[in-house]
Amino acid sequence: MEKISVKDARQAAAIGKTVTVRGWIRTRRDSKGGFSFLEVNDGSSLASLQVIADGNLPNYESEVKHLVAGCSVAVEGEVKASGGKGQATEVAARKVTVLGGADPESYPLQKKQHSLEKLREWAHLRPRTNTFGAVTRVRNCVSRSIHNFFQEDGFLYIHTPIITASDCEGAGAMFRVTTLELDKLPRDGSPIKNELDFFGKPTYLTVSGQLEGEIFACSLGRIYTFGPTFRAENSNTSRHLSEFWMVEPEVAFNDLGDNMDLAERFLKRIFKDALDQCPEDMAFFNEHYDKTTIETLQKIVASDFRRVPYTEAVEILERCGETFEFPVKWGVDLQSEHERYLTEKHFQGPVILYDYPRTLKPFYMRVNDDGRTVRAMDVLVPKVGEIIGGSQREERLDVLTGRMAEQHLRPEDYWWYCDLRRYGTVPHAGFGLGLERAVQFITGMANIRDVIPFPRTPGSAEF
Ligand code: 4AD
Ligand code: MG
Repeated sequence: MEKISVKDARQAAAIGKTVTVRGWIRTRRDSKGGFSFLEVNDGSSLASLQVIADGNLPNYESEVKHLVAGCSVAVEGEVKASGGKGQATEVAARKVTVLGGADPESYPLQKKQHSLEKLREWAHLRPRTNTFGAVTRVRNCVSRSIHNFFQEDGFLYIHTPIITASDCEGAGAMFRVTTLELDKLPRDGSPIKNELDFFGKPTYLTVSGQLEGEIFACSLGRIYTFGPTFRAENSNTSRHLSEFWMVEPEVAFNDLGDNMDLAERFLKRIFKDALDQCPEDMAFFNEHYDKTTIETLQKIVASDFRRVPYTEAVEILERCGETFEFPVKWGVDLQSEHERYLTEKHFQGPVILYDYPRTLKPFYMRVNDDGRTVRAMDVLVPKVGEIIGGSQREERLDVLTGRMAEQHLRPEDYWWYCDLRRYGTVPHAGFGLGLERAVQFITGMANIRDVIPFPRTPGSAEF
């Protein structure tokens, strides 16, 4: 008896085999002929397996006829060619073992359609829906593709720390990590004794693995980090999470142009892999969530990304005649309405904006000869906006420490980062891709909370 997945049992190659399939009932339909059709899903594919449970089964009346959505079963039987539409095979059950029941009165997924908002409350059960099964498989595919892309290109996977004492993005929106007893902190205004904290100083959850990634790039050449990152910003949008996964390559001797080439090649690869390796799930998203998602991805894979300096983007926005909530002029940070106008309406495809005003960007980005701009780049895509942020790094010690002073950072707190510029400094560049933004873009899911298993957002951390 071969134990196989629903996915494998659905292949014509399985016809004639005697198998065991285990999974959860999606539906049961009883036929007038005194038998039942069971739809069994085990997460291995979007489509479920049709099982024919004959009335002669010893537990047919007592158990099989009471199976409802959510029950778990093990089915032994023969795989046969199916005359039914949309399936090559079905299983004629010899034995149906009920592993677990599910009370239809209380099982939340009994009803067919729930809103995505409602399903967020049931993060422990939503993986059993078609949508979250498909999201989970595509997310897995993207993760594999990320590793494959870098591994095939000779990059080393570096595990950068989750707990850190330094602030990479300088935005000050970090989660503090402490073992100090919060209810015993001084209340008379006297300072907190950080030296008594676990690490002897304030520590935080990382916002990015970049700074530590640079250390390894400046020794080993080509590296990437891929792990969870945390942001304590109070951003309640469809594109922000408080905990998300970021992949960050960092390459010694690369300049901004090389960085753009890498980002473009990388995105095309993960989009293509999703199309090639998850055709069934992608067809599902295309049908139910975004009728353009497959075509959009195919077009992107086949075309060149536009590369536009920030200054030119601002001119386009000033001239475009659109009314924006936030007015644009040189020196302002582009809002998502501006980014979306550029990528959706003006260029109608991915755009790489680069050379942003120095005042908008963190201390580590390389200052251009004009003195006003830095070698930053953001990759924008339709619907999601910014999907990648990166830069060429400042490799000149004097310029770097000047930028730190500008941003009220103390070089002695970043002494190790400065050492990389003191001993054998090299030009280098890297970027960060938000995994969830990528999965959101690929699937066409409107809300980022629906592409991560357990979303963390301001005011919400159930499970
Ligand atoms: O642009 P960001 O902040 O860049 C960095 O953190 C750099 N240190 C990366 C680097 O150069 N190595 O973030 C990079 C990407 C964004 O483009 C976006 O895709 C994603 O991370 N991101 C978020 N995703 C979900 N929720 C949030 N709150 C995010 N903030 C950033
Ligand atoms: Mg950014």
